[in-house]
Amino acid sequence: MIPRVAHAARWRNGLDAAQLNRTLTATVPRFFLTAKSNRVTSSPSSFPHHRAPPLLQSPFHHRPFYTSRPGLLAAPIDPHGPIDPLPPLRYSDDMLRSILSTVRTIAMVGVSSNWNRPSYFVMKYLQDKGCRVIPVNPGMAGKELLGERVYARLEDIPEPVDMVDIFRASSSVPPIVSSAIAIGARVVWMQLGVRNDTAALEAQRAGLVVVMDRCPKIEFGRLGGELSWQGVNSGIVSSKRFVAPREKRRKVMWVAPEAADGVEEREPGFATRAVHAGVTPDPTTGARTMPIYQTTSYVFDDVDHAASLFNLHTFGYIYSRLTNPTVSALEERIASLEGGRAALCSSSGHAAQFLTFFTLLEPGDEFVASQNLYGGSITQFKMSFPKLGWKCTFFDPDDMDSLRRVVTEKTKAVFIESLSNPGGVVVDIEACNRVTQEYGIPLIVDNTLATPYLCQPFKHGADLVVHSTTKFLSGHGNSLGGCIVESGKFNWAKTDKFPSLTKPESAYHGLVFYETFGDFAFTTKARAVALRDFGPTMAPFNAFLTMTGIETLHLRMERHCANAKKVAEFLQSHAVVAWVSYAGLAGNKYTPLVEKYLPKGAGSVFTFGVKGGFENGTKVVESVNVFSHLANIGDTRSLILHPASTTHRQLTEEQQIAAGAGPDVIRLSIGIEDVDDLIADLDQALKSCKL
Ligand SMILES: Cc1ncc(COP(=O)(O)O)c(C=O)c1O
Repeated sequence: MIPRVAHAARWRNGLDAAQLNRTLTATVPRFFLTAKSNRVTSSPSSFPHHRAPPLLQSPFHHRPFYTSRPGLLAAPIDPHGPIDPLPPLRYSDDMLRSILSTVRTIAMVGVSSNWNRPSYFVMKYLQDKGCRVIPVNPGMAGKELLGERVYARLEDIPEPVDMVDIFRASSSVPPIVSSAIAIGARVVWMQLGVRNDTAALEAQRAGLVVVMDRCPKIEFGRLGGELSWQGVNSGIVSSKRFVAPREKRRKVMWVAPEAADGVEEREPGFATRAVHAGVTPDPTTGARTMPIYQTTSYVFDDVDHAASLFNLHTFGYIYSRLTNPTVSALEERIASLEGGRAALCSSSGHAAQFLTFFTLLEPGDEFVASQNLYGGSITQFKMSFPKLGWKCTFFDPDDMDSLRRVVTEKTKAVFIESLSNPGGVVVDIEACNRVTQEYGIPLIVDNTLATPYLCQPFKHGADLVVHSTTKFLSGHGNSLGGCIVESGKFNWAKTDKFPSLTKPESAYHGLVFYETFGDFAFTTKARAVALRDFGPTMAPFNAFLTMTGIETLHLRMERHCANAKKVAEFLQSHAVVAWVSYAGLAGNKYTPLVEKYLPKGAGSVFTFGVKGGFENGTKVVESVNVFSHLANIGDTRSLILHPASTTHRQLTEEQQIAAGAGPDVIRLSIGIEDVDDLIADLDQALKSCKL
């Protein structure tokens, strides 16, 4: 997967991609400029005109599974997004590590004296990591900042500089690059949101290494594992401990970045990520499975460290209501499996939904949801949310026109279940996405029943995914939990609908979350405000059990689906069964959507109608022996429920029928036992029914 530009890329280089193509093709035809120096090497063919020149594609391979750009913006967000998006930049982890572990002196151009601006706290962070950072800002020349004298220009710095870090608009970059070349810097680093390909080419010709549209703090934190503490997907899968770029000083002080050239960085497959993502060996003990950090709180180094943590200026743990290492590991694992940028876990699936909407909505706001949802979600949206001033209107996911009829300019989000509980309705995610895109609002997908093994909503345009991890993710019926995953691709600043992300947050001295955290702003805001203030935190023990469960998710889901199909086929031919609603059955009306969204199987939760209605429905659930009669799904054990007498009993009969939970409906969650035993159990229970 190639990282896509996450949101409002703010290219200010004034050249569009076509112009740039022409410029570069004219300047360096048939040559491939390596990153190391102004060496120009012969390439067998000239640049094809329909493709960007090699420089833009970067000779460095970014980890392909590292799905999008990290956050922390340097410049104000352009609400109109990229003028003409340039090809995404890819840098290998080896290259970035090589730079960050070897540069000693960094000149930071455009640094601010405001302690709550990104440039200020990036400077402070890099100082903490042992770099000498020299501030450059003509407006503050001669003054002192964070213990360093501020210079007006790079040329005024009286000592050698390894790297120039640029916190300026893209259009202002060329003269800074010329100065960086003049003072003999080895690296030019342009902050997140800053990119000027023409200036980059000039620097590379002069032998400098160039990084654009990245934040050294974020990359440092990602490579050293600190970013994972916030549930951010580092993209790193390794059986070695995380080593921060500056923790172990390398023997070779300057590793040529093109060492990464030509190295094929593989994207680990789903099963590998299910087993590894988020967990490298414990840095202190080497423990290979994730330890359960059963602690409420974490010691600060000093008052300044505490202040940086509370201000969200540095990565770290404060208190387990907000973050806990075991929970963070689970968050990263789920983010990785969903192909998302970051995740936030909560005490239950319902809590994840609450945290999502609290972060999105203001009192008086509206959203739209599918009418085919878990009964508890319908109750939450219909009965409890209005007390907070949030109005939900429902639509029929089988009729996409009904979605268009209810979405208005006041709608702030659309919520669906990819595979609904209990009706097994498969929703056309891409059709929903077309509507949400039109209105500039996020599409939220509850992916609980499908799990990322069967369906990956981000590939189809979802912006946020929520889970009840209680179900298939933990998988063994032993831990409540929920999770929010953000794709990192939604542009929160495109409209003025999401002030909670784009306006200064008074609880954090005016910090703007989208500006500061970019493509993981949503989960950071949900954590730093909603989770902090309402407190539905996942317990570390539950995170441990859920993570262990996920390690076999791919194996379990295959068996769940295979068993479910056989049970559904058996029921379909049973005399006491009126109908079976399993999207995985041949000829089911959802077959085309299953082929598109659930190619590996239609899950293992489905409903059937027993002849004789409510009475026989309750008879069946009381007669089974292997199936457990209870209100849960997604267990290794097979489960059975009569929704009308249990989970959906709060709804009117009309609502029950609309939600696929009428009086004759029985819901099954097929486990991973021997399927013949499941079939025999249902058979004897159905035979006990009177017709
Ligand atoms: C699809 C779906 N979403 C959300 C939830 C709520 O999750 P939890 O019970 O973990 O709060 C459930 C619970 O059954 C569910 O089935």
